[in-house]
Amino acid sequence: MQESRVTPWEVSGEVNYDTLIKEFGTSKIDPSLLKNIKKHTKKLHYMLERGIFFSHRDLDIVLKEYAQGKKFAIYTGRGPSGDTHLGHMIPWIFCKWLQDVFNVDFYFMMTDDEKFLCNKNLTLEQTNKLAYDNALDVIALGFDPKKTFIFADTDYINHLYKIALPIAKRVTASQAKAVFGFTNNTNIGMYLWPAIQAATCFLPSVLSGKKVRTLIPAAIDQDPYWRIARDVAPKLGYPKTAAIHNVFLPSLKGPEGKMSTSEGFDATIFTTDDAATVKKKVNKFAFSGGRDTLEEHRKKGGNPDIDMSYQWLTFFEEDDKKLKKIYNDYKSGKLLSGELKAILIDKLNAFLKNHQKNREKAKKQLSKFILKD
Ligand code: TYM
Repeated sequence: MQESRVTPWEVSGEVNYDTLIKEFGTSKIDPSLLKNIKKHTKKLHYMLERGIFFSHRDLDIVLKEYAQGKKFAIYTGRGPSGDTHLGHMIPWIFCKWLQDVFNVDFYFMMTDDEKFLCNKNLTLEQTNKLAYDNALDVIALGFDPKKTFIFADTDYINHLYKIALPIAKRVTASQAKAVFGFTNNTNIGMYLWPAIQAATCFLPSVLSGKKVRTLIPAAIDQDPYWRIARDVAPKLGYPKTAAIHNVFLPSLKGPEGKMSTSEGFDATIFTTDDAATVKKKVNKFAFSGGRDTLEEHRKKGGNPDIDMSYQWLTFFEEDDKKLKKIYNDYKSGKLLSGELKAILIDKLNAFLKNHQKNREKAKKQLSKFILKD
């Protein structure tokens, strides 16, 4: 097994999430915290119940303040280096639920600057254009335009820069090297960059003139930024930002790493893929937990725990009963690998059909959501 590595720019190997909680110093989401969330939300989102969101920082404080009538703001984002894939959608689907149940503002940062700086092959014009295209995937999820604020960094930098500078002044190059793995060969733009991503943690406070805590739903790869933001927050008079972390939607090819375009476009499912393409990709690449022969599969059953079609269904099939039946039928050998793949293909295509319709409509709504200097 390849040794695992998780940074904002690289996820490789089979990730052990319990080890990451220890390494990053975050807290596991335990049953008592889930109970506490449920007090406010009545029902739990399936991503919480299934442990897809598994770790947090200060979510208990967010809930305590909320109970006292203090609203938080949600913050998340996207590095526009290409088309949106289904992995990116995981935290955004959860953000939509959070906005609905807590009725809170949502800030979405599109880091055209970051993706220009860290990617040799992309121009600023390209990353900026991709940002607004990726924004359609966010809007398509149905966020409230009155409470949702989306911006591309280079078009909103007047606001961000003034918040970023006092952060940057308090972070040394050696801290940045230790937290982000920068080296002497890293370009100097990247050394400033973490202060810009951290700046949005405090944007709701700056815009409102009040102390507004932000809660950041994102995969755990983004956590290093929140360490910096939380470290400087008290020094700058802001509430410490809180976070809730999701696991990675794995690659279709197997449990190592995450689904990402850097490991090849062929096995990555994009929000703009048509039904035939999804079918082709799942059939060709989804790692199977089935047996070698039909006879053996019927007799001994398959292994849903390593089967990527089943694993993906845990992210996209909301109905617990259906999911349980699929698990049991596969394990007993009643359901074959090809049939399980077909279930995933249908699920993804139903989701994408609806999403693509809303994505088209979002083109007309875009301006209602965008913040610019
Ligand atoms: P980016 O574009 O790499 O990722 C966007 C969001 O998707 C999450 N993510 C995944 N989640 C589940 N499964 C996967 N396979 C998967 N791959 C990526 C990421 O954790 C992220 O939440 N620098 C950031 C942009 C950014 C941001 C933020 C992200 C700016 N501010 C605040 C989160 C929160 C970036 O390049 O994200």
